[in-house]
Amino acid sequence: MTTILNGKNLRDIILADLKIRVEKFMAPPELAVILVGENPASLIYVNNKKKTAEKLGIVSHVIKFPQNVSESNLIKTIKILNEKKSTTAILVQLPLPEHIDKFKVIDAIAPEKDVDGLTPYNSGKLFSGEKPFVYPCTPRGILHLLEKYHIEIEGKNVVVIGRSNLVGKPVAQMMMNKNATVTMCHSHSKNLAEITKNADILISAVGKKIITENMVKENCVVVDVGIFKDENGKTTGDVDFENVSKKAGFISPVPGGVGPMTIASLMLNTVDLYEIQHNINIFK
Ligand code: GUN
Repeated sequence: MTTILNGKNLRDIILADLKIRVEKFMAPPELAVILVGENPASLIYVNNKKKTAEKLGIVSHVIKFPQNVSESNLIKTIKILNEKKSTTAILVQLPLPEHIDKFKVIDAIAPEKDVDGLTPYNSGKLFSGEKPFVYPCTPRGILHLLEKYHIEIEGKNVVVIGRSNLVGKPVAQMMMNKNATVTMCHSHSKNLAEITKNADILISAVGKKIITENMVKENCVVVDVGIFKDENGKTTGDVDFENVSKKAGFISPVPGGVGPMTIASLMLNTVDLYEIQHNINIFK
């Protein structure tokens, strides 16, 4: 029997718990989201983040800039937010326009307010096996989901497809830190099916329909991070869910799998950063 990794249920549990945590704070956490341009997917994501934050009593400001904003303007804004005591978390929605060096912009975020865990400080901590202030949201959500379903990571063959800074690289490192044997694949990888067939846990973060039934091992765990619209406008993921789900032991659906976990992790990170900044329960 195949088990569906239900991200919606777990998200609801996490958010209910967070609401109680936030109620105890003297002042609300404040999440500043920087949004550049009118990328339709980014507009939807940012709106979702704001709505979810507000349901928990987290103040959320979306700071919008036109597509042609300068890099120095963005950096100047981040520096102001770094200094502003009431702002406890900063997120720069990606992607940024091509004329902007995203690394310079991300590097400007104070590490203790870096809610995506993407600054060199936080990613450096992660990659050296130390504890960052927070872990990137989607990888944190994936590990949380696996933990909820009691899926062991130690000693497992984990195959990650996609090497982005947001998902592929950090999730691979987090799996390695938990003693998995990790193989990274990407757009130049050859004989992908030969590699994926060896996976006990397969994590696909590509954004194209690429994972078919013949690429997975019987009873493996399949985590689908991809989310896009198919030719009929239907929201779908990287995995041929109908056929792969007949073979996998566990599989995350799209929608309803990793997506809700990313939002839940962003809220967890926002609350964790607030607690770190206010010296609340940091040793729990
Ligand atoms: N764009 C798509 N996903 C994300 C995310 O998790 N964080 C940021 N900053 N941008 C994104």
